[in-house]
Amino acid sequence: MKNGSPIRWGILACGGIAEKFADDLAFVKDGYLAAVSSRELSKAQQFASKYGPDVKAFGSYESMVHSGEVDVVYIASPHGLHHEHTLLCLNAGIPVLCEKAFAINSKQVAEMIQTAREKKVYLMEALWTRFHPSMAKLLEILDSGVIGDVIHLMADFGFKADYIPEARWFNPSLTGGSLLDIGIYPLFISKLVLGLPKTIKASATFAPTGVDMNTSMIATYESGATATLFSTFAAKTDTTCTIYGTKGKIHIHSRFHETKGITLELEGEAPQFFETERLGWGYSYEAEAVQADLRAGKLENDWVSHQHSTEIMALLDEIRRQIGLKYPNE
Ligand SMILES: NC(=O)c1ccc[n+]([C@@H]2O[C@H](COP(=O)([O-])OP(=O)(O)OC[C@H]3O[C@@H](n4cnc5c(N)ncnc54)[C@H](OP(=O)(O)O)[C@@H]3O)[C@@H](O)[C@H]2O)c1
Repeated sequence: MKNGSPIRWGILACGGIAEKFADDLAFVKDGYLAAVSSRELSKAQQFASKYGPDVKAFGSYESMVHSGEVDVVYIASPHGLHHEHTLLCLNAGIPVLCEKAFAINSKQVAEMIQTAREKKVYLMEALWTRFHPSMAKLLEILDSGVIGDVIHLMADFGFKADYIPEARWFNPSLTGGSLLDIGIYPLFISKLVLGLPKTIKASATFAPTGVDMNTSMIATYESGATATLFSTFAAKTDTTCTIYGTKGKIHIHSRFHETKGITLELEGEAPQFFETERLGWGYSYEAEAVQADLRAGKLENDWVSHQHSTEIMALLDEIRRQIGLKYPNE
């Protein structure tokens, strides 16, 4: 990364989320899409062509990572491959923003973090929601104490995924299942509001491929609060989050992980709606956070720190242990 020059982003894997992230780099100041890579050169070329003639296309992830053309890589492969692809970048000295779920399990996450620290290279999990203006508003309301003590949090995330056994959502070898894919968002918001649970209990039902279709979780906290969390690939659910306090409640509107608004309802008062900004798809905020960290010479982000990702993965491991979900590649 040259001092003063805009930061050159490279995208590893040209799938669905990669396209949204690439779209949103247009909102990012001081950085731009420099290169994309795919297992097939023609796919990378087609993807790159949508973002202008100067975006370089590579026919393998390795060739982009070692090209000298990128300052930071956004990893957008299926989560079962995040560990391998993160190590590829870190070992080449290239900073990484890696999609969630960060990897398959805690062992892989520990190796990724250890490598980042040994090589002194930046690494962050792409928990984009944390950087949305809506989360700053949520924390402002919570910190003001207006809703009193938080008693309960409810959050769900569900959509109806086409049942294709080989596809990422259902394929065990691509680490399919609703928990790691979208159940991570209810877990994330519960952790942001209530911290780590004292206990967590989970139950799941499964798709014919053996990965979880529906996962329900119940958590308790030292404060006395509880949370109910849910993820599914079988139905479109509200995908909201409601936080109940002793003096009122906060409702994060659908879909809560990319919301544009929050309603505060205090006892005896009319509900107040707060509109919150979301530029584009909502991915520019995390990209700007990464850029600010890189400019400041940091090796991890303060909000989505290595410890944060370690704690989220430990919860995912424990939930999978309880529901009996193991992946073939772990
Ligand atoms: N933050 C968010 O809002 C959000 C939303 C959706 C997904 N995600 C995360 O982003 C990651 C990718 O999700 P996606 O929906 O973009 O998936 P996707 O559309 O299936 O794209 C994944 C890409 O990974 C590459 N890949 C490498 N090895 C592969 C293999 N063996 N099988 C299939 N693909 C392989 C492919 O790119 P090439 O063919 O170009 O190599 C493929 O297009 C997941 O970890 C997911 O959890 C995050």
